[in-house]
Amino acid sequence: MGEDESHELSVSFELKRDTWCGEVRLSDAGQEVVLNGWVARRRDHGGLIFIDLRDTTGVVQVVFDPRESEESHGVAENVRPEYVLGIWGDVRQRPDRTENPDMETGQVEVLVREVEIINSSITPPFEIRDETRVDERVRLEYRFLDLRRDEMHENFKLRHRIVRSTHEYLDSQRFTEIETPQLCKSTPEGARDYLVPSRVQPGRFYALPQSPQLFKQVLMVSGFDRYYQIARCFRDEDLRADRQPEFTQVDVEMSFIDEGDIMSLIDGLLDVIFNASLGYGLELPIPRMPYDEAVETYGSDRPDLRYGLRMATLDEVFAQTGFKVFAEALGSGASIRGMRVEGGGGMSRSELDSWNRKAMELGAGGLVWLILEDGGLRSPVAKFLSKSEQEGLIRTLALNPGDAAFVLAGKREECNDILHHLRAQVAASMGLCPEGEFKLTWIVDFPLLEYDAAEKRYKSLHHPFTSPTQRSLAKLEEDPLGSRARAYDIVMNGVEIGGGSIRIHRRDVQERMFRLLGITEQEYRTKFGFLLEALKYGAPPHGGIALGLDRLVMLLAGRDSIREVIAFPKTQSASDLFTGAPDEVSATQLRELGLKPSFE
Ligand code: AMO
Repeated sequence: MGEDESHELSVSFELKRDTWCGEVRLSDAGQEVVLNGWVARRRDHGGLIFIDLRDTTGVVQVVFDPRESEESHGVAENVRPEYVLGIWGDVRQRPDRTENPDMETGQVEVLVREVEIINSSITPPFEIRDETRVDERVRLEYRFLDLRRDEMHENFKLRHRIVRSTHEYLDSQRFTEIETPQLCKSTPEGARDYLVPSRVQPGRFYALPQSPQLFKQVLMVSGFDRYYQIARCFRDEDLRADRQPEFTQVDVEMSFIDEGDIMSLIDGLLDVIFNASLGYGLELPIPRMPYDEAVETYGSDRPDLRYGLRMATLDEVFAQTGFKVFAEALGSGASIRGMRVEGGGGMSRSELDSWNRKAMELGAGGLVWLILEDGGLRSPVAKFLSKSEQEGLIRTLALNPGDAAFVLAGKREECNDILHHLRAQVAASMGLCPEGEFKLTWIVDFPLLEYDAAEKRYKSLHHPFTSPTQRSLAKLEEDPLGSRARAYDIVMNGVEIGGGSIRIHRRDVQERMFRLLGITEQEYRTKFGFLLEALKYGAPPHGGIALGLDRLVMLLAGRDSIREVIAFPKTQSASDLFTGAPDEVSATQLRELGLKPSFE
């Protein structure tokens, strides 16, 4: 007999819950309860057997005493972890000194009168406990067991609370939730599309939506005024801790508004979400920082504002320098960028060397470190720097005695990228990111375009439907890279949790934008003809935003990967290890779709 057949076969059960495990309290002492749950732990203390019984609300201790019920005690002797039980018993206060202050139910236990084995379980591949440290691949393969852990239940209840308060808040602001299609036209811009072949039209494909962007704009043309959707989006891009191929957006669009309206709406929404998830609101309004300031001061448009480690450009300080490395960099049009590391003067030589190695791993030619001591700057390169250069560096980076400075020479964007990564690593190693601290900022005044040297064309920083500012509109073709967008991102603890913009609502401007992006008329008519058509019929001024729900929940749950807040996430190689997707399909299926069953 297999181990899963060791109990009497039954398709129903007798002992049906009247109380949840995690909710038994001292005030219930003297009451009878019926519990249903899983065996989290079993301890045999000679005469007594203790079982921690778990359901979605938590764990309660149940006690089997042979003097109370010999039969139940006999059953408990054979019970193993993850068996499903029904328990009928009496709640009582735990004897003195056996209370567990770490458990919500730690003051009580349930003395069992009767037990029913509702189902058995084979031995799980890992213990179902929060402290269990198991390889993530095993967790994902046995996701149904991994999801049994308390921590995971907490994450998904938090997610549910956030979604519920989002619905309530947006409803109170007169928004209508409208679903948009999952089978769409392919209009790749940004990431690659996931394609779905059409059976009835062989050789033709749908794309899964990267976002409901164009549908929500068209809903504004339809006069809905305020749309939202908790929308599933699909992007075939390289995966990271905060990126999944399918993810969820809180997607919003409004008519007859400007940037300020969207930002205050989202300020209000985040305040409600913080209240629902952490029990406190936000200081409003959420501050706004221009894009240029973010990049200059933090090397990135998603600055983590929980700590300082601010940067500055040192080109002027070293304009006349005799220090070869800096002089050559400036001579070749590169930049010198420095970061103040508050209290970094306490780092040992080997720590400083290891930051140099990390900078080089990130692509730097080398990292210059300097430490400000009472007597002046200490650094292997200090002797090459003049007094005025040293003073300029101290002043520009606002160094105090005991601080360190990390300085890089190179292309400005590359220096920023490297310093941005170093900044996060230095902050983590110096313990500057305490759990439970949240710093939010809007990033505003974005450039409209960037130049893609590889493809030799301009690309939108957000997307091609983003409106330029009124002032940029006049000089769009003349000075594309100087154009500014009516766009805004929202950043929390260094993670971009949302982004949006005021859209182009005039057809002629939209066509100009496509042309500027190097999209031919034929191309944009084929791809976006439906949008251009809609814009002919009285499109209202409109704009919106999408929040990355998974990222928001991840941060509020204090996790460092969105896989912790997605029930069945994909791995780095976009596999679902639980079901085995993606998988091969039969030759018949392929034939029906008009596809040839041959793959490299
Ligand atoms: P954007 O592409 O910036 O904007 O996406 C909005 C937000 O969605 C989240 N996000 C992701 N989360 C998890 N995995 C991913 N692969 C992923 N990609 C994006 C981020 C991001 O800020 N249509 C526009 C919005 C608009 O203009 O209204 C859009 O999709 O948190």
